Amino acid sequence: MYPSGTLRIDELTPEERAVYATLKPERLPAHVAIIMDGNGRWAGRRSLKRFLGHQQGARSVQLVTETASRIGLPWLTLYAFSLENNLRRPRAEVNFLMRLLKSYLESNLQRMMDNNVRIRYIGRTHELPIEVQDKMAWAADATARNTGTTLTLALNYGGRSELVDAFRSLAAEMKLKPMSPIRITEEDIHRHLYTAHMPDPDLLIRTSGEMRISNYLLWQIAYTEIFVTERLWPDFRGIHLLEAIADFQRRERRYGGLGECSGEVDEEAERIKIAAS
Ligand code: FPP
Repeated sequence: MYPSGTLRIDELTPEERAVYATLKPERLPAHVAIIMDGNGRWAGRRSLKRFLGHQQGARSVQLVTETASRIGLPWLTLYAFSLENNLRRPRAEVNFLMRLLKSYLESNLQRMMDNNVRIRYIGRTHELPIEVQDKMAWAADATARNTGTTLTLALNYGGRSELVDAFRSLAAEMKLKPMSPIRITEEDIHRHLYTAHMPDPDLLIRTSGEMRISNYLLWQIAYTEIFVTERLWPDFRGIHLLEAIADFQRRERRYGGLGECSGEVDEEAERIKIAAS
């Protein structure tokens, strides 16, 4: 794919550079999405409060984003706060996550500028506290003209509610046009998703070992390669992103077709087999 911005490989750590050297730069994913999980367990294993796990998690967000920007990854989309987190976590934890998000944006803005990172959001962000929305808009505006990695934070996000929002917006458009339902295409639905402006993820990483999608980017991950690591998010670094990309590059993507190594289909042999069965 096409690396965005300027490559800054010389800024990788020596360990990261060693993994990067094994990659095929022309086959970098265009879009990596991450389900950041395990903050609570990271804290629990150290007999610390969950809040401290989230705080370390925010540090990982920054370090991974900077590595992504150095290798020219165009799109990085992080699941930072789900609709379910908002509804089901204790208020004190939700309030802490909101304060953390505000302070994260404020204290990392300069680093985002230095790394040419553009910040955007997906989700029902209009339901977040107004002071959080203000800080989010401030960070998005300040970084809007950056041309490197686009860091998208999924906030108050749910995959099913994104589809509901997309269908509502498509229905509104159809009323205006008007258009018959039979003419609806996948492209029409894509145009109404929060992610309409970006390619679907090539690679989805989930930390802390859980084999779940957790309502993340449900439409978009139809053909995405999935990489699950036992590592907890607060321990996840740029080098682990590079290792996941190396694993991704060893896979064969088939999009429902036949792979390069699947050989010719011997139609005559298949016909005989079917006839004999
Ligand atoms: C899961 O940990 C993680 C989240 C609730 C969302 C991710 C949040 C962060 C990385 C913190 C801040 C982010 C930004 C952008 C400032 P968990 O609490 O579910 O962990 P557990 O499953 O081990 O309990």
